[in-house]
Amino acid sequence: MLTKAPKGTADILPENSYKWQYAENVIKKLCADFGVKEIRTPVFEHTELFSRGVGDTTDVVEKEMYTFNDKGQRSITLRPEGTAGAARSFIEHGLFNNPQPTKLFYQISCYRYEKPQAGRMREFHQFGVEYFGTQNYAADAEIIELALMLFGRLGLKDLTLRINSIGCPHCRKAYNDKLKEYLSANYDELCDTCKSRFDRNPMRIIDCKSSVCKDIIKDAPRLIDYLCDECSEHFANVKSSLDNMGIEYEIDPDIVRGLDYYTKTVFEITADIASSNATVCGGGRYDGLVKELGGPDTPACGFAIGMERLFLCLEAQNVEINDESAMQIFVGNIGAESAKFAQKLVHDLRLLGISADYDKLDRSVKAQMKQANKLGCKYSVIIGDNEITEGKVMLKNMALGESAEVELNAQAIAKNIEENY
Ligand code: HAM
Repeated sequence: MLTKAPKGTADILPENSYKWQYAENVIKKLCADFGVKEIRTPVFEHTELFSRGVGDTTDVVEKEMYTFNDKGQRSITLRPEGTAGAARSFIEHGLFNNPQPTKLFYQISCYRYEKPQAGRMREFHQFGVEYFGTQNYAADAEIIELALMLFGRLGLKDLTLRINSIGCPHCRKAYNDKLKEYLSANYDELCDTCKSRFDRNPMRIIDCKSSVCKDIIKDAPRLIDYLCDECSEHFANVKSSLDNMGIEYEIDPDIVRGLDYYTKTVFEITADIASSNATVCGGGRYDGLVKELGGPDTPACGFAIGMERLFLCLEAQNVEINDESAMQIFVGNIGAESAKFAQKLVHDLRLLGISADYDKLDRSVKAQMKQANKLGCKYSVIIGDNEITEGKVMLKNMALGESAEVELNAQAIAKNIEENY
């Protein structure tokens, strides 16, 4: 028990962390290219933020939250997602007073008590983007552009973008009546959760995972056929914006999303891999959330990408990621005197910004070179008495197996490495 991580969590080990660092760096650069700034919010928030924001008829709030009372008897919840916290922070710090839109991104851990399986964790990570303060359809298109550009820069292929519109409270009201009328014939067969959602939020039933409910809602009316003029025009503009950028999409009237704050555009991006949990990205517009949480009426849209699923897709498609954190040079030594010399040489190399290491386990030269290989070192030198007296050393390119004689000092070695890098 003590040496086993809790179910649904995973350690990111050193042999994999470089992949996360790589993706995080690509994300940072991409967000900078789009003028999107990072926001960092707490891992836990007041429970009410999620019950009000995400919605108390959602699976996330009804079944999946890690909620507890703290020692001051406040109900606290580990964030199941990032939008509500970003919206809370937007309001709390008056970010609406800045020139709009406010374009934010975050890379966070999230917590949902779900049944763990490939791509479904209890602790997982999201890269999310939120645009506050514009109702322009071009914002919906831009966040989709950003998400797809990330996949492109990471080398992922065969992705499908599916979009839908679930309207505004105005069109939803008329639609809910239609849906309830349709569902009432089979009300008794609905699962208990759907029965409880029938009056509170009937559209949620479209998203139910139970096979009986799925069968019932198969031919139910879809909101996209009941959009008001404004929502219809907005959706048409989002589509023409995507067309304008050459972004391909499918229209999927079944996407309702699992969180209650969405209005108008919703979308999901799936990858063509074997796993059933291949939805790597989900998002949409949520024009009512900021007001619902007590802020000024502020339109917004955003998305989140599941990082674990992103890595599953990269692996499934055999996308190679170079370990940029691999050591540049290993300084081998023979005996105590040369170990001292190696320590100083490594210190000088590090001062010059070269990543370097040396043996601290009194290994044989052969074992030291094996270790250098394991560390993925690009270069190595072996320092013995001769090298120290002559002031010269063979600098070996480990990958090519080629060696060149260089002066035995940090500047000369660094210069050679940088020239050949
Ligand atoms: P979501 O669809 O609940 O949306 O989650 C977004 C993504 O997080 C999913 O597409 C999936 O890749 C990943 N994900 C969700 N749950 C899990 C899990 N248990 N294990 C692993 N990955 C998971 C949101 O969270 C919204 N806040 C997105 C958004 C931002 N909408 C507007 N702005």
